[in-house]
Amino acid sequence: MGTNVPEPWRAAVDATPRELFIPDRALWLRSDHTTVPIDRSTDPDTWLRAVYSNDAVITQLDDGAAAGDGDFTSSCSMPSLVLTMLDELDVKPGMTALEIGTGTGYSGALLGHRIGPQNVITIEVDPQIADSARVNLAKVDSPITVITGDGAAGYPPGSPFDRVIATASVETVPYSWVEQTRPGGLMIVPWGPPMANHHLMRFVVGDDSAVGTIIESANFMRLRSQRWEPPDEPDDFDEIADTSTTDLDPRVVLGNHARLAVALHLGECRAVFETDASGETLWLLAADSWASVSGGAVRQAGARRLWDEAEAAYSWWLEQGSPVRPRFHITVTAERQWVWLDSPENEVAINRSQNS
Ligand SMILES: C[S@@+](CC[C@H](N)C(=O)[O-])C[C@H]1O[C@@H](n2cnc3c(N)ncnc32)[C@H](O)[C@@H]1O
Repeated sequence: MGTNVPEPWRAAVDATPRELFIPDRALWLRSDHTTVPIDRSTDPDTWLRAVYSNDAVITQLDDGAAAGDGDFTSSCSMPSLVLTMLDELDVKPGMTALEIGTGTGYSGALLGHRIGPQNVITIEVDPQIADSARVNLAKVDSPITVITGDGAAGYPPGSPFDRVIATASVETVPYSWVEQTRPGGLMIVPWGPPMANHHLMRFVVGDDSAVGTIIESANFMRLRSQRWEPPDEPDDFDEIADTSTTDLDPRVVLGNHARLAVALHLGECRAVFETDASGETLWLLAADSWASVSGGAVRQAGARRLWDEAEAAYSWWLEQGSPVRPRFHITVTAERQWVWLDSPENEVAINRSQNS
């Protein structure tokens, strides 16, 4: 495998050949974001290179509804990321764990090898994917329990768990996961608001709450029930939009560490950069509001002024001393969850979708 394996996971990796988990036909998602269709029967060499690369392999598009290009809805994640997540889970043999998002079964098999397969329950929402995971797991004699269902509810019959690991991302951390983790336990969860859905959080669980810290960048597909896509801008956007100008570069406002602060303030809004012969345009798209920024020209329409909000959020981030992402944390309780900077009293933004 083209990745460094942390020593405690070496035996699990050796006992779990990734090729037993990858379907004969899939899509190799390379690190430069290009995709290569792979087919074991027609090009076994490329298939094997994909399997033993450090890249994700996409195993389902559009919830299985379509062939060809579409949204990625299931995969065998990047091996190095899988191992980082498992290592951050800080497990010991004999602990119990719940995995949300079985996918191919690969990460569940690794976990089962380390802590004992009887101690791992994994939940997959898609029945076909759950079935093929069961077949894959049988190939490595891994009798972890695969449940077909919505992992947003956790799995009460198996609780409390020492550890919870999600391999689909959330904006709102389901409280069921906190409730079903033993106090003192840990949860590893990919998290982020729509404009910055690429953070790996490590939660320490208390008696009735959990506190999370960002540990890494990580791109994951959303948990099904938390998917959200805004509509495109309306056809008459040019006519209805207010126009103004800006001195700020959208790439800076949505730059590395600022992006999370802006994303939190904007809530349910998506950012899309489009390039054509005239240059680059940033689109901000929310359910009822739209903005475009191109070459300093700003156009905004709808209920909100999204670029004005982005500029205000960016100023807030500068005023706070340009905090880097690990300074942002989340507290999750039964009533609500909130993001804070440095200390729990310094609340940044209430996760809007939870309150809507
Ligand atoms: C990145 S893949 C999982 C990778 C997997 N751990 C592996 O090693 O192959 C994410 C999976 O989460 C599943 N998923 C999405 N929403 C879910 C939900 N609400 N409950 C359970 N599984 C869900 C998807 O169907 C998909 O198979």
